[in-house]
Order: sequence, then C-alpha cells, then structure tokens
Amino acid sequence: MSPQSPTLTVMVQAARKASRKLKRDFGELENLQVSKKGPADFVTTADMTAEKTLVEELSHARPGYGFLLEERGKIEGTDPTHRWIIDPLDGTLNFMHAIPHFAISIALERQGVIVAALIYNPVTDEMYTAERGQGAFLNDRRCRVSARRDFGQALIATGLPFMGQDHHEMELAELREVMAQTAGVRRFGAAALDLAYVAAGRYDAYWEHALNPWDIAAGILLVREAGGFVTDLTGGEGMLKSGDILAANEGIHPQLLKTLKKARNNVS
Ligand code: IPD
Ligand code: CA
Ligand code: CA
Repeated sequence: MSPQSPTLTVMVQAARKASRKLKRDFGELENLQVSKKGPADFVTTADMTAEKTLVEELSHARPGYGFLLEERGKIEGTDPTHRWIIDPLDGTLNFMHAIPHFAISIALERQGVIVAALIYNPVTDEMYTAERGQGAFLNDRRCRVSARRDFGQALIATGLPFMGQDHHEMELAELREVMAQTAGVRRFGAAALDLAYVAAGRYDAYWEHALNPWDIAAGILLVREAGGFVTDLTGGEGMLKSGDILAANEGIHPQLLKTLKKARNNVS
C-alpha cells in the first residue's frame, strides 16, 4: 500500500468526489452530441462543476490554503505558504469526443515547492499519487520510469499546437526529427496523463511547449518521484514559468533534449 499521509487522503477524497459527476457526465455525452445545447457547453459545465467540488472539498479540509485554478484563476488564501494548483479536467477535447482519456490533476505547493501530487483518470480508475521524498504510486503500487536507454527503441509522447496557437513550423521540425530517430511518437491529448504515463514507465519520454501550470504541476512531482528527470526545453528549471517541459528517464532525457534543440536551430 502507498504510505498515504493525511494530505494525500484529503486530495484522494476530493478527486473521487469530483470524479463521480464527471463520469456520469461522460456517460451522457452520446445523448448530448445530438442535443440543442451541444457538447461544448456541456463540457464547460462539467469542468466548472468538477472544479467547484474540488475547491469545496479542499477548502473544507484545509481552510486558508489558496488556489490556482484553470477555470476560476487565482483565489488568495489566508495562508500564504500553501496553494493548490488544479486542472479539474485535463483532456477536455477527448472528453468532448467521448474518448476515455482525461484526468483530474491536483498539486499542492508549499512555499513555492510542489510537495504533493494527484492525477486521476476516473474511467480507468487509475489514481497516480506522489509526495516529495516518498516515491510515486499508481493505485497502491509503486511506479518507476522506464529503464530503456536506447533512443531508437524509445516511445515518446508529445502535444501539438492547434488552430490559433503559434509555432506550428518549429514543432513540426521537432516532430520530424524525433519521428526519424525513435520507435514512435504519441499525441493522446492530456498533458497530465502524458506525465503520469512517463512516471509509470509506459512512455520513455514526453515533451510539449506552452502549457499552463495546472497542466504540469502534479505531473512534475510524479515523474521526479518515479525516478525521472524533468526540465524545460533548455534543460533548466523554468517549466512552470514557460510551460515548456521535457520529462524522461535519465538515459533518454539528454538525447531528446539534444535532438529537440538541434531541430529548433535548423528552423531559426
Ligand atoms: C490540454 C491538454 C492537451 C495539451 C493542451 C492542454 P485541457 O488541456 O493537456 O494535451 O496539448 O495544450 O491545454 O484544455 O484539456 O485542460
Ligand atoms: Ca489542461
Ligand atoms: Ca482543463
């Protein structure tokens, strides 16, 4: 069993409660595809409802902690040392298309350091948790990053920009280079789960540009506690600022970092 601290217990309970409604809503999606309201509005409501439940539950258990939320932005707490960073539904587009690959992501920051993390996919019932210095868990089993060192055998995940976002050419150049050198690239559409899958040793690495803190805060701790390396795309520590991230096992990380840098240099 994972050594579950009171903090993690609170996080797990909040995520389970929020996920019950998310799961019900997911089950309703087929009907909604044909309703007048349409899936987009419905999903916005599902995001908001999950976030509301999480805020209520966590505020009740830890009064005074602040929040950084995808939907409602910042809520200042009376305790300036603690803050929850939350994406109530990561993988919204998947959810909207009835693809069962989405998650709730919760991180707890203490004095600017992420100390606890949870990523939960309600459909597969996979609960990833980590606490600083305590290792990472998938349900009640410890998880580790993969041991693969051969770049040519590596399975790599990424996220790609879409309509209205910048840098399509640069990211195509990166993709082209990584495609040519590895066993395969995946784009599953939920950054939190991409990081969780690196922690679980399913992907050997993952990179993406321009994410938000709520997409990656929990996943960063999870990968590190699973023995992996996480940096921004210059090799530095600025992931939460820039939103650029590279997470991998120790062997693959430097190879992917070098490959991506080379690809970007060729474009500019
Ligand atoms: C998105 C997902 C996706 C990533 C996007 C994110 P959302 O989050 O994590 O994988 O590529 O950039 O915005 O909107 O589904 O919460
Ligand atoms: Ca997200
Ligand atoms: Ca979201």
